Amino acid sequence: MNSLIDKYNIPGPRYTSYPTVPYWDEQNFTSEQWQHTVIRSFAESNAEEGISIYIHLPFCENLCTFCACHKRITKRHSVETPYIESVLNEWKLYLELFKKSAIQKPKLKELHLGGGTPTFFSVENLRYLLEGLFETVEIADTPEFSFEGHPNNTSYQHLKTLYDLGFRRVSFGVQDYNEKVQKAINRVQPFENVSRVTNWAREIGYQSISHDLVFGLPHQTWEGMEHTIRKTLELKPDRLAFYSYAHVPWVKGVGQRGFDEEDLPSGEEKRKLYEKGKKLLEELGYIEIGMDHFSLPTDDLYQSQISGRLHRNFMGYTTGKTQLMIGLGMSAISDSWYAFAQNEKSVEEYQQRVAKGELPVFRGHILNQEDLFIRRHILNLMCQLETEIEPDEVPDYLLTSLPRLVELQNDGLVNFTENNIKITEKGRAFTRNVAMVFDLRMLRKQPETRIFSMTV
Ligand SMILES: C[S@@+](CC[C@H](N)C(=O)[O-])C[C@H]1O[C@@H](n2cnc3c(N)ncnc32)[C@H](O)[C@@H]1O
Ligand code: SF4
Repeated sequence: MNSLIDKYNIPGPRYTSYPTVPYWDEQNFTSEQWQHTVIRSFAESNAEEGISIYIHLPFCENLCTFCACHKRITKRHSVETPYIESVLNEWKLYLELFKKSAIQKPKLKELHLGGGTPTFFSVENLRYLLEGLFETVEIADTPEFSFEGHPNNTSYQHLKTLYDLGFRRVSFGVQDYNEKVQKAINRVQPFENVSRVTNWAREIGYQSISHDLVFGLPHQTWEGMEHTIRKTLELKPDRLAFYSYAHVPWVKGVGQRGFDEEDLPSGEEKRKLYEKGKKLLEELGYIEIGMDHFSLPTDDLYQSQISGRLHRNFMGYTTGKTQLMIGLGMSAISDSWYAFAQNEKSVEEYQQRVAKGELPVFRGHILNQEDLFIRRHILNLMCQLETEIEPDEVPDYLLTSLPRLVELQNDGLVNFTENNIKITEKGRAFTRNVAMVFDLRMLRKQPETRIFSMTV
């Protein structure tokens, strides 16, 4: 396994989209085209499957020094109200666009509050935001509403209010329970806090409770990781995200410089943390889903994998696909299936653009036919670990990638036939490497600087 790690542990995308953000063709993107694809996608999909909304709530009181999310650190809660007003105003701009299709009211199927820290916001402000949104939509019969809660500041009232507003899924950031690791990442968070919010969520009736763990953090050892997993399992979350630590200090600046490079486990040590962690989780009844995720067989995530409904987008894995996902808030990314668009990455610029009555997108990508083809296969690999290609649709570039596939097969990571590529159990850890074989935009032009985290 070690030589495989040496060979395949290279910088690579996590494929929450194809093309990946650094390969977006920003020159040929305009807000008008974006709006056009939104209207088209809305008209095509709203009546049947409904739409998804992602709301980015960026504020956190303290900086965790490992964090790669788009956030703004502040203790001033006066930022809440103007931010929420901007989000509601941005939403109104989309409502105006929807009116250009024959359908008037959006059907809301999926809603996710992410961050930053959604529970930085007061219960009253969250209620104001959500009630403002809900009065403009029809809620689907089986809505899927979820949010990210920080164990240190999620209150019983947060959980109860969001439950009453229809939320049934919550994920809590745990990362690691060892004091030395917590200090290095500037996130001191005792087990009692996680236990308290998990028990409240269960008592209130949440159907799916998830914990985020991260492997590869500074000072992590297997003994410590085992301790974290065993403590986690005392609370039996329905799902677990087991993320590989993405060390991207060149993107996030000082935030990740709270520890030294030598405090990080080596590539090989990191892979062992994952392998052993996975084994332990499986012994304890969890099933690995796609990449980075584990679920109990009773959870919807597992059910959606078996039924082939599992989908992946900027929110990570989701239990179903909607064609149109609108991302609201600073840095949020939207997906109309035919195009992607990202909002301004600073709170101020985001708010200024919305105040001017403009959709606050600053870059994006319009997908061509080739992108749509590749996107479909990369999605299949990331969700089902397998994809079927009709022999007459195999593009030329894939034929030139054949030696890479043969190599992956010789290493036991994939099996392929004329019209099928399947990732093996051994290859699961290298899913990103397999997807890269399809990534035409990256094959054409390798990045000139480090832009992706390591694949393993
Ligand atoms: C927005 S946070 C979750 C909500 C809340 N802010 C909290 O920290 O509890 C999303 C999750 O992303 C993961 N994450 C953040 N930075 C990461 C990185 N550099 N590598 C891997 N995972 C990371 C963490 O597991 C974190 O819980
Ligand atoms: S991990 Fe969560 S709380 Fe910590 S800085 Fe990132 S978004 Fe904020």
